[in-house]
Amino acid sequence: MKSKRQLPSPRFVLPLINWGVPTLRRHKARMSKVVTVRDLQKIARTRVPKAVYDYVEGGAHEEISLARTANAFLRVELQPNVLRDISNVDTSIEIFGKKTAMPVIFAPTGYTRMMHHTGEPAVAEVAEKNNLVYCLSTMGTTAPDDLASAVPGARRWYQFYLMKDRQASLDFIKRAKDTGFEVLMLTVDTPVSGIRARDIRNGLTVPPKIGLKTFLDMTTKPNWWMNLLTTAPLEFAAFRGYKEPLAQLAAKIYDPSLNFEDISWLRTVWDGPIIIKGVQSVSDAEKLADIGVQGIVLSNHGGRQLDKGPVMIELLPKVAEKVGGRLDIYVDGGFMTGQDVVAAIAFGAKAVLIGRAYLYGIMADGQNGVEKVVEILQAEISNTMALMGIAKISEINSSHAKLRSN
Ligand code: GLV
Repeated sequence: MKSKRQLPSPRFVLPLINWGVPTLRRHKARMSKVVTVRDLQKIARTRVPKAVYDYVEGGAHEEISLARTANAFLRVELQPNVLRDISNVDTSIEIFGKKTAMPVIFAPTGYTRMMHHTGEPAVAEVAEKNNLVYCLSTMGTTAPDDLASAVPGARRWYQFYLMKDRQASLDFIKRAKDTGFEVLMLTVDTPVSGIRARDIRNGLTVPPKIGLKTFLDMTTKPNWWMNLLTTAPLEFAAFRGYKEPLAQLAAKIYDPSLNFEDISWLRTVWDGPIIIKGVQSVSDAEKLADIGVQGIVLSNHGGRQLDKGPVMIELLPKVAEKVGGRLDIYVDGGFMTGQDVVAAIAFGAKAVLIGRAYLYGIMADGQNGVEKVVEILQAEISNTMALMGIAKISEINSSHAKLRSN
C-alpha cells in the first residue's frame, strides 16, 4: 500500500518545532522526573565542573569512611507495626523550644556559592519557607551579617571554629549574637585539615583558576562559569578584610591546641545553646554532657577528616544509651533518604543534619533544587512513618530500627 503524499502544512508542522532553548528544556524535563535525592545527584554531576562536584562528593584519603557509611545505610532494617491509626502523620519536632517541620537541619557547608551562585541565602530562604533550621558555616561564602539581612526571618545557627586568637573568636561570637544567630555550633574534628585526595588531585582552588583544562570544562558547563564570572567573587566572607593567603588563614582558623577547657570557656562567653560537632566516641560525649553543652553532633565531617573512623549510625545507639537524656544528639554524614532519618531517630538522634543532599539540590537546580530536596525528604519521612504505623516523631523508639549484620 502506498501512502498519499502532500506538501507539509505549517498548521501541522509549527507545533512540532521545539522553539525553546533545547538544553534548558532538557534540564527542565530531567528535573520534572526527579523522585529521589539520588536523582538530583545525577543531574548535579552534569551541571558543575568536576572539581566542584568532587569537592562535595569526596571524602578524606581513601574514602573508606564514606564507603562504610554507605554500607551501614544498606544494613538499616526498619520494623513496622500494622493496624495503627496513622490518619494524621505529624513529622514536626521541637528544637530548643521551637517547632520545626521535620527532624532535618541544613548542615553548615563550606563555599556554598561555589556549588551555585545563589549559595547560602538561597538555602536559608528554603529553610525559612519550610520552617527548618539553617546553620551557616564559618567557611561560608556569605558573611553572617549579609545572611541575616538577606533572610532575617530564617532560623539561623552559626557554625564556627574556636581560633587561637581568642579576641578574634570573641568578635565572631559577638557578631553572631548581634545578627540574631540562635545557636553556636562548634566544630571540633578539625584540629588539622583532612587529606582530601580528590581536591589535591584536581588542584582545587577557591576561586577556581582558569587553566587550559578548566577552560575546556567551561565549554561544557557554560551556565556555571557565566554565573561565577558575573556574580560577587567567591571568598570566605566571614574573613573579609583578612589579607593572608588561604593556607595561613586555615592555620589561624583551626586551633590544634583546642581542648575540653576551651569548651568550658566558651560556655562563659555565649549564653545561648552550644552544640559540639564532630564527636566520635561515647567517652567524649559523656565529657561534653558533664561540661553542660546543650547538644552534640555525631559526625565524621562527612568522611572528610579522619578516614577509617567509626560509622556514625553504628555509634549512635551506644552514645544515646549513655547520654541520651542529658543533651540533644544530632547526627550527620551522607543522609539521603527519609527512611534513614527515621532510623536515626529510632537509634536515638533528635534530628539529622544534611549537607551533601541539599548541595546536590543546589548544584542541580539552584534554590528550586533545594526546595525539591525538602519536598522529597518531607514526603519520604511522612510515608515511612505511615507505613511503619507511627503518627508522631515522639512515638519512634529503639524497637523501630536495627542494623543487620549484612
Ligand atoms: C568544610 O568544612 C569541608 O568539609 O569542606
